[in-house]
Amino acid sequence: MTQLNFPDGFRWGAATAAYQIEGAATEDGRTPSIWDTFSHTPGKVRDGDTGDVACDHYHRSAEDVALLSGMGLNAYRLSVAWPRVQPGGRGPVNQVGLDFYRRLVDDLLGRDIEPWVTLYHWDLPQELEDAGGWPARDTAARFAEYAALTEAALGDRVKHWITLNEPWCSAMLGYGTGEHAPGHQDKVATLRAAHHLLLGHGLAVEAMRAQRPDSQYGITLNLHAFIPARDAPADAEAVRRLDGIGNRIFLDPLLRGEFPADLRADLAPVSDLAHIQDGDLATIAAPIDLLGLNYYSRNAVAAAKGEPHDPAIHSPWIGSERVRQISRGLPVTDMGWYVDPAGLTQQLLDVHRVCPDLPLYITENGAAYPDKPGPDGTVDDPDRVAYFDAHLRACHAALAAGVPLRGYFAWSLLDNFEWAHGYAKRFGLTYVDYATQERIPKTSAQWYGQVARANAIPA
Ligand code: NOJ
Repeated sequence: MTQLNFPDGFRWGAATAAYQIEGAATEDGRTPSIWDTFSHTPGKVRDGDTGDVACDHYHRSAEDVALLSGMGLNAYRLSVAWPRVQPGGRGPVNQVGLDFYRRLVDDLLGRDIEPWVTLYHWDLPQELEDAGGWPARDTAARFAEYAALTEAALGDRVKHWITLNEPWCSAMLGYGTGEHAPGHQDKVATLRAAHHLLLGHGLAVEAMRAQRPDSQYGITLNLHAFIPARDAPADAEAVRRLDGIGNRIFLDPLLRGEFPADLRADLAPVSDLAHIQDGDLATIAAPIDLLGLNYYSRNAVAAAKGEPHDPAIHSPWIGSERVRQISRGLPVTDMGWYVDPAGLTQQLLDVHRVCPDLPLYITENGAAYPDKPGPDGTVDDPDRVAYFDAHLRACHAALAAGVPLRGYFAWSLLDNFEWAHGYAKRFGLTYVDYATQERIPKTSAQWYGQVARANAIPA
């Protein structure tokens, strides 16, 4: 294979999220988030794992910044824990909490690493959940206030802001299937949450842009990549349904200020969507400067055999009632997700078609494998190297086809708390020994560092 060069100025980063790495759950004025409550509820997270300590990043951030710098990365995507900087989700800032992020950002800048800050990576203050959570309209206003005060504190140093990470997961897994915090199973609440997350995004962009017009604002989505199992109209219809509830429910309001008409019809038995008030869609469609995509896998879908409510249904989220997933015979990662890099090129091309002028970033891509240190103490992860190599080639193919892809963030800098899977799934470029908190860069870290330094994938 030939060496593939990336454009000048391409961002080579790694990503993390506060609850997954920080620990220090009760320190310096931090109050509980929905993930503290959820992970402490028996049966919700594998092995009863919690984020109480996680990678202890709150106390080891300097060491972790050194890992980024050791790889030669020029960007780092971190998230701010809302309950650390505005305990309870309303009222004054907690200066000690903000100081942690200020130090972290200064450390990054000192090593020429550009900080990219995600404001919401799923850790809603529990007090806001008690007041109704994302299904309540007021949470959108609270989020915008939190975004503005965080930017007021960090905006002199942080120029790239991502409002929400994967709002599909917050709405659908948090309020629909209950696999994620706060663990509800309520379709109406799910749709209300999806809307209020978007409204919060729009209000936050408005508030932050008013403070700092020259910074860059965007959102990160996990768009679902589906292909029809067969060339059959029923399977194309399955793809249409999932594309509606999985993708266009976010893309259309964000990019066009519209709620998809076919989805409105699909959802009619569940909700009349009366929670969408006049003017909301225009707020949500506030111009953004970039779109972040998290890509991991692609699925083949087919119409369910007996519909609706066929037991073959893969998951209970809205839209899946008439759809099933078909096995694909591709290799899978430790999450059981198919490795399908061609789906990444396709997704970039598809998104570029709907918003041709918007710079795109891969804000997450990566794979879990069951890594273990070898007898010499090193961690060799050839499957992850192959995964990154194939997906970066897929990114390059999209660039070659004219997609304005401006950067790539590997998930993740560290092994960390993988939500309902606890610490059992390892996505890191760096191995974490949770008993000692020792960090061991894996072979993939060395490989990825080489790519970042060369701004090219080696032959
Ligand atoms: C997406 C989420 O943003 C991140 O928190 C999670 O760990 C990865 N996917 C892997 O599942």
